[in-house]
Amino acid sequence: MSALRVVRALLLAACVALAGCEQVMRDMYEQPRFDPDAATPLFDDGSATRPPPDGSVARSRGDAAATASGRLGDEAVEEAQAAYARADLPPITAALLARGRERFDIYCAPCHSIVGDGDGPVVRHGFPAPPSYHIDRLREAPDRHFFDVVTQGHGVMYSYADRVLPQDRWAIVAWIRALQLSQHAPVDALPPALKAQLQAAR
Ligand code: HEC
Repeated sequence: MSALRVVRALLLAACVALAGCEQVMRDMYEQPRFDPDAATPLFDDGSATRPPPDGSVARSRGDAAATASGRLGDEAVEEAQAAYARADLPPITAALLARGRERFDIYCAPCHSIVGDGDGPVVRHGFPAPPSYHIDRLREAPDRHFFDVVTQGHGVMYSYADRVLPQDRWAIVAWIRALQLSQHAPVDALPPALKAQLQAAR
């Protein structure tokens, strides 16, 4: 028997032995378990299906209804969100900014950083760096551009449509505008008191 044949025979034996392992593993797939709605004396109501905790909202009914992860979709929510998607940046209020900041810090800051300069922790670990929001091109970009990037993704950045609802996309856009202003505000746009303070400091 040549060496090659010996190796082949050993490989074959190993395959047969491993196939045997699969048989043993099967026992772990087939553990005792209940099917949905099966009867059991374990619980007072006699059902193996446990009621959801108070306040639970089905994915298909809650905030995520109009997204692919809330697969069944709630038509009313879907229509409301579609209306937000067609609309423009809503009037900026303190509540909108607070919501935008919260969502931005969760979904965008990991890469874009909390100040939007593109140096978030994920980037420091090797993800490609996004452009800073504080460059002329993005300062001049229309509000809709930011909304669309979240919806569709952009280059290596994937879409957040599934996690950030249209309503919240606008809140994030409002917050990005605030971040941009924080780094690039014309003195004339300041309230008189602040302007006076700044001039005095000079
Ligand atoms: C996983 C990292 C990551 C996250 C999270 C992320 N982005 Fe990005 N983003 C990028 C990268 C990388 C680019 C540059 C993509 C390219 O040009 O290929 C980018 C580009 C952008 C741009 C610039 C598009 C242009 O015109 O150049 C905008 C605006 C933007 N992202 C907004 C957001 C918003 C808003 C969020 C949160 C909802 C977000 N991003 C979340 C990585 C991320």
